[in-house]
Amino acid sequence: MDRKIKWGIVGLGKIAKLFAEDLRLVHDAELVAVASTNRERAKSFAREFGNPQAYGSYQELFNDANVDVVYVATLHHTHCQFSIAAMNHKKHVLCEKPIAINTTEARQMVDASQRNKVFFMEAFWSRFNPSIMKIKELVSEGIIGKLRYINAEFTFYKLDDDPQSRLLNLDLAGGSLLDMGVYPVFLSYFLLGKPREILARSQFHGNGAEIQTSMLFQYENAQSVLYSGFANNTDMKAKICGEKGEIYIAPIWHETQGFKLVTKGTGQFHEFPTKGKGFTHEVAEVHECIRNKKLESAKWSHQNSLGLIGIVDRIRLNSGITFPFEV
Ligand SMILES: NC(=O)c1ccc[n+]([C@@H]2O[C@H](COP(=O)([O-])OP(=O)(O)OC[C@H]3O[C@@H](n4cnc5c(N)ncnc54)[C@H](OP(=O)(O)O)[C@@H]3O)[C@@H](O)[C@H]2O)c1
Repeated sequence: MDRKIKWGIVGLGKIAKLFAEDLRLVHDAELVAVASTNRERAKSFAREFGNPQAYGSYQELFNDANVDVVYVATLHHTHCQFSIAAMNHKKHVLCEKPIAINTTEARQMVDASQRNKVFFMEAFWSRFNPSIMKIKELVSEGIIGKLRYINAEFTFYKLDDDPQSRLLNLDLAGGSLLDMGVYPVFLSYFLLGKPREILARSQFHGNGAEIQTSMLFQYENAQSVLYSGFANNTDMKAKICGEKGEIYIAPIWHETQGFKLVTKGTGQFHEFPTKGKGFTHEVAEVHECIRNKKLESAKWSHQNSLGLIGIVDRIRLNSGITFPFEV
């Protein structure tokens, strides 16, 4: 067997824990180091996950020669800074979504990957979800005919969160679009490409954070109606409709376990369970790419991440979403 790929994690919050749980399910992965701004948090995280090295600063982890690849699980507005720092220490990087706050930052990250000759990928795990992989294949084969309409949303009621929380704090790039809206935008971009025209409108919290955004993407022969928000819950299904059939992705669609395919008026449910929560699939892709000395994944390339964040930039311009640290 190939030697194990050695992982380090920086930013030990909620997603880091879910990711580390899935990492245990990948036979050729080993968690060798974790780092937090709080050393006690790092130690406690390490105790829970097989006692990797625990660091009280990210820099110590970047200096650790034992680490092959760093998973950046910090807040949105720090993805660029910490991914580049890791890559400058010749670490491969898997960075949580959104890749960055905007295209300018994302380009700097891609440049750092190319300059340092290290692998870099945005952790867009839905791209590697087995159902979504299968849906892409079915749509490409034309099983539901020419695509005409996509409807997807991602919402959770969060208005009772502390306004200082990462979701509602503008200084931490809070707001629903970068946190959740990137998923419906991804689905449309993944299946239909870049829209010709975007119409978007947002509502804002009293502190200025964006709390709900509706988006209409206009393509040459198709439309997508997308939504993200903290102001309400929904059924979290996604619909992909063609001239000859439809696909209904089961909730929560971006981490789904299956979908219903309807053709000629008859529907059948197809199950494609994830291994673990679903982060295992993106990890497998990272391993494959590192072992083959690739700087980027063909499945979720640098250009794909730039394309997605470019659409998000256009939505923000259209709906007036700004962050204080950008101006
Ligand atoms: N793929 C997914 O399904 C998914 C799901 C949830 C979140 N995410 C993404 O993962 C990232 C982290 O989300 P999360 O829910 O894990 O966040 P979180 O638990 O609130 O925080 C993650 C880490 O960010 C650092 N942090 C927290 N508050 C901070 C502050 N005020 N200033 C500076 N750093 C702070 C801390 O790192 P230290 O431990 O070093 O102090 C914290 O452990 C986000 O970019 C989010 O979009 C992805």
